[in-house]
Amino acid sequence: MITEPHIKIEGTSKFQIGELKNDIVHYDFEKIKTYLNIKGYLLFGSTFKLYPEDDLLLYKLCCYFIQDHYSCSQMGIDTNKGLLLSGPVGCGKTSLMKLLPHLAPHKTNYEIIPTRNIVFNFNATGFEVLDRYNETRNYCFDDLGIEPTGCHYTKECNVMGEILLSRHDLYINSKNLVAERGRSKTHITTNLNAEELEQRYGNRVRSRLREMLNVIAFDSKDKRQ
Ligand SMILES: Nc1ncnc2c1ncn2[C@@H]1O[C@H](COP(=O)(O)OP(=O)(O)OP(=O)(O)O)[C@@H](O)[C@H]1O
Ligand SMILES: [Mg+2]
Repeated sequence: MITEPHIKIEGTSKFQIGELKNDIVHYDFEKIKTYLNIKGYLLFGSTFKLYPEDDLLLYKLCCYFIQDHYSCSQMGIDTNKGLLLSGPVGCGKTSLMKLLPHLAPHKTNYEIIPTRNIVFNFNATGFEVLDRYNETRNYCFDDLGIEPTGCHYTKECNVMGEILLSRHDLYINSKNLVAERGRSKTHITTNLNAEELEQRYGNRVRSRLREMLNVIAFDSKDKRQ
């Protein structure tokens, strides 16, 4: 158990991101941003800074990552679902999905995997790769839509389409576990919008994505230098 979830320690520095009262953390968004600026600097280098124009998006995401059920429901975000973070190239989707789990790792955590790597792995190893994602861990599939079609020897496979269908089954079947340890969550970053996702993976996948993910659109400028 984490005894001080409201205090983040980086090296010899401590950052307080909220107040602990009766075992409940009351998070402070301004303090969270101070911490994220520093953590981002440590993870991504000195050019990293949070942009004021991304404030609203960041607020939504922070509420989700700390699992503030009340604020999330007010913004139409379901804390039991995963996140589909869509937006233009270079706006900072992957960076945020790497940064934000540091806020409250006891509440939101996952392994982040580029979809291209999954397909390359499939091409080299075959269908057993699909099984790896059919387990109750949480994943963030990074850059959905840019991966090539899978091809193991002569067998072609829409690898991410198949994986997303089984992640949906898992999400539905883990409903009963909500009280115990939460659902199996899937998160996604992508440049594609809903129609493009449907074109790429079909309407069965699109409909299931809607059921298991909160769609968050990140409309910001390209941050690549
Ligand atoms: N807030 C930020 N401040 C400064 N640089 C940033 C910020 N966010 C991201 N970057 C930088 O911009 C570049 C693009 O960021 P990132 O890879 O997170 O974007 P992305 O939306 O995932 O892009 P893509 O759609 O191409 O996957 C990276 O070099 C990253 O370090
Ligand atoms: Mg990315």
